[in-house]
Amino acid sequence: MKVAVYNTKPWVECFFWQANANYGHEFVFIYERLSESSARLAKGCQAVCIFVNDNASESVLRRLKEMGVTMIALRCAGFNNVDLVAAEKLGFCVARVPAYSPYAVAEHTIGLILALNRRIHRANQRVREGNFSLDGLLGFDLHGTPVGIIGTGKIGQVVCQILGGFGCQLYAYDPYPNDAVKQLGAQYVSLDEMYAKCLILTLHCPLVPETRYMINADAISKMQPGVMLINTSRGALIDTRAVINGLKSARIGFLGLDVYEEEADLFFEDLSEQIIQDDVFARLLMFPNVIVTTHQGFFTIDAVQGIAETTLSNITAFEHGQCQNTLTSSGVHKPSASAAPAAYVE
Ligand code: NAI
Repeated sequence: MKVAVYNTKPWVECFFWQANANYGHEFVFIYERLSESSARLAKGCQAVCIFVNDNASESVLRRLKEMGVTMIALRCAGFNNVDLVAAEKLGFCVARVPAYSPYAVAEHTIGLILALNRRIHRANQRVREGNFSLDGLLGFDLHGTPVGIIGTGKIGQVVCQILGGFGCQLYAYDPYPNDAVKQLGAQYVSLDEMYAKCLILTLHCPLVPETRYMINADAISKMQPGVMLINTSRGALIDTRAVINGLKSARIGFLGLDVYEEEADLFFEDLSEQIIQDDVFARLLMFPNVIVTTHQGFFTIDAVQGIAETTLSNITAFEHGQCQNTLTSSGVHKPSASAAPAAYVE
């Protein structure tokens, strides 16, 4: 199948070519993000492959439809950037990569926790400048620390497993509690109880209307003074302005972000020669107790190989008229071809 791969980077090309040895698809690599203006570049392709910051809103989908595109192949797990209702109405097949190395994101989460707690980012800069003072570098033992894990799916579960190894006290919140997480020693509690108890909070739930801005001024006011907040899921789970106020008042003592609500105009690009126009983001960078990484949680060899493999397999399945990792308008997976009744039509 001829596939327009938007938001391409050199590593995307490399991993897609490697995985394609088993599939034989034809790629048109496009370095722009998918948007209303770049949709025309998919002319002649049956599928478009997009990533977290591409825009698949209704108007963009309509343009793709006019050009004969019938499939949207997400090379990521999250799908908040696709208007699934419009996609279904327009007859698109939307497939995603529901699982690929949850270890990648979980381990990055732990990296942020350790770096913030022991001020590794600051210590590294200081030593390079010949400053060997310990002032301001005092951390705390993770052993025994109460940690709240919000969302205990694939990534949240691995986070529980790793933090359990450190000897943390684990508290979890998820509308669908997971027995494996209970067996790791985590106790499911309400969000309010978690906010009142935990010194570290880490977000591992999807961005959906109910979770947008779940970390807002009200939630922050219920948290422990000096709490560490980590978000490696999706930027808009957090109201960034409220978090900045929390940092200024010291209610939030540490902030680790791998995602940012307005990241689409910043992340994945080298903007080092430009002036950052986003004043909220620029303010975040002023705090010494904040670490921001550039949506790199997924970025390990293992995870990227898994993403390329599943994406191309999803496209092949679609080519053969099968459902594989395809989403309905409500965001749930359609049954797989083998599980589908004979009359089931994709
Ligand atoms: P998953 O689908 O396995 O788990 C998500 C969990 O969140 C589920 O257990 C679900 O019940 C729970 N959940 C749903 N609504 C909730 C709510 N209101 N409050 C608390 N929990 C809720 O997803 P997975 O693979 O663990 O990924 C989690 C998130 O990580 C994704 O949604 C995505 O946004 C993010 N992600 C980030 C990456 C990065 O590079 N930084 C890469 C991959 C995923």
